[in-house]
Amino acid sequence: MYLNKEWRILTIGDGDLSFSWSIFNDIGAKHISASVLDSIPELTAKYQDNQLVNLHANQITVFDQLDILNPSSFSPTLSKSFDLVIFQFPLIPSFSSKAEFDSKGKFDKNTLNRQLIWSFLYQCFDFFLDPNGQQLAYITSKDVKPYAHWNIENLNPFPTKIAFLGWMPFAQAKFPSYQLRNVDRDKVLKSTASKTYVWGKANQDYAELNLKQSPKFLANHCDLCGKGPFTQEIDRQIHQASFAHQRLAKYERLWQNFLDDNHVQ
Ligand SMILES: C[S@@+](CC[C@H](N)C(=O)[O-])C[C@H]1O[C@@H](n2cnc3c(N)ncnc32)[C@H](O)[C@@H]1O
Repeated sequence: MYLNKEWRILTIGDGDLSFSWSIFNDIGAKHISASVLDSIPELTAKYQDNQLVNLHANQITVFDQLDILNPSSFSPTLSKSFDLVIFQFPLIPSFSSKAEFDSKGKFDKNTLNRQLIWSFLYQCFDFFLDPNGQQLAYITSKDVKPYAHWNIENLNPFPTKIAFLGWMPFAQAKFPSYQLRNVDRDKVLKSTASKTYVWGKANQDYAELNLKQSPKFLANHCDLCGKGPFTQEIDRQIHQASFAHQRLAKYERLWQNFLDDNHVQ
C-alpha cells in the first residue's frame, strides 16, 4: 500500500483502531484522523486490546459513531479536509435478529456490502476529500469469496468524475501494529491475500502509486469475473454459461435493481 507521510489521511470503520495506529507508528504518517462505527464505550467493551489511548497520547483525533451510510453522523470538521480516505476490510455488521434483517429491507448481504462500499466512495468524493488535494480513496479487501463477489472495481458512484485506478497488494507484514479484527467480536482474523483498490480523479496522473490494472478491464476478458482472455467467441459463451459467472450475474442484477430503486443517494 503506497502511503505518502505528508498526506492528510482519514480512516473509516477502523474497528480496534490498530490500522490508524499502525500508519502512525509503523509508517510514520503525520496527519491522521481515525473513525469507528461504534461508540467509544462499545469499542472498548468489544476490543479490550485497542489503540485509543495510544492515538490520543499522540494528539490523533478519533471520531466515534461515524456511520458511512448516514452523513448526519459526520463531524463538519471532516469536510473537504483529506488527501486520502481508507476503509480496511469493509463488512456490514451481522444481523442480530430476523427483525433487524427485515428492518434493513431483507436485502441480500452481497447487495448490502456493495451499498457500504458505494456509499463510502460517494462520501469520500462528495464530503471528505479536499478538491485541491490528492483526491484518493483506498479500500482493502480479501481476494476470496464472498468479498470477491462484490465486483468492487465497478462500484463507482461518479463514473464521469472519478475513476477506478487499479489495485496494489496489501502486505500486512509492513503494518506490524495492525491486527485485522472481526466486525462484531474481539477476534483477530488470519491474513489472506488482500488487495488495496484505488479510486481517484479521472484524468490525473497517479504514477507513483504503481498500480496494477484489474483483468476485468482488459480486452477479451469477462468484465464481471475477470476471466480470459477469450480467443474465440465460443469460449466466452461457455464461460458466461458457467455456474460461477451466472452467480455473479445474479448478484449484479440484484445490485442494479437496488440502484434503480434509489436505495442509495
Ligand atoms: C471486518 S471489520 C474490519 C475492521 C477494521 N477496519 C480492520 O481492518 O481491522 C469491518 C468494519 O467495518 C465497519 N463498518 C461496518 N459498517 C459500517 C458503516 N456503515 N460505517 C462505518 N463503518 C462500518 C465495522 O464497524 C467494522 O469495524
